[in-house]
Amino acid sequence: MRFIETKDYEEMSLIAANLIGAQVLLKPSSVLGLATGSSPIGTYQELIRNYQRGILDFSDIHTVNLDEYCGLAGDHPQSYRYFMNQTLFSHINIKLENTFVPNGAAEDFDKECSRYDALVKSFGGVDLQLLGIGHNGHIAFNEPDDHFPAQVHRVKLTESTIHANARLFDNVEEVPTTALTMGIGTIMRAKRIVLVAGAEKKEIVCRAMEGKISPDVPASVLQLHPDVTVVISKS
Ligand code: F6R
Repeated sequence: MRFIETKDYEEMSLIAANLIGAQVLLKPSSVLGLATGSSPIGTYQELIRNYQRGILDFSDIHTVNLDEYCGLAGDHPQSYRYFMNQTLFSHINIKLENTFVPNGAAEDFDKECSRYDALVKSFGGVDLQLLGIGHNGHIAFNEPDDHFPAQVHRVKLTESTIHANARLFDNVEEVPTTALTMGIGTIMRAKRIVLVAGAEKKEIVCRAMEGKISPDVPASVLQLHPDVTVVISKS
């Protein structure tokens, strides 16, 4: 595992974007695993800048997102599909049909989990997976548990995650209580992983990356992955 400590959020974003940019340059048909939330926004802005400069071409890139809230359709402003369209996809030359997010408005969530799992597998694995980390050590929406879930599944969000994410909704009651998420097995099959974390995540990053490997701290499983880069900001 590599740790890159940066002076601030901007530098963290620049470095993460450079790692993703290198992946896109070396393999223009890469499958990128993407995350939502506050941590990767700066990374996406840097990728957009490098696209606008003519350095990056996303026309052959496919993307698979980690997760989506149950009950929110892709045109809902708080859905992760909407976030991805607004924050990244509409600013670069990726083909929208090559971008995938679990369908939070599916009628049958079990079927949607199987469909999404098969879809990710059909790509032969993700080349580079971008991750954030929750204050409780979650990655994607794999919350602390007594086991590491293998596949795409539906989860009940913890109170702490609901409260952390309420900042993006009008009030806490509007935050969906369940979500569809890639499993730990799905994430661990990615060839490379880049995790971005702001300074406020320092304590949980240390616990996850240096403490005991346990599903109590889902991100701790990353210690077993052969190619993880943690980019963490000092301020
Ligand atoms: C989002 C996701 C989550 C976030 C995590 C941190 O797709 O997978 O695991 O990465 O909740 O969120 P922020 O970056 O908002 O602190």
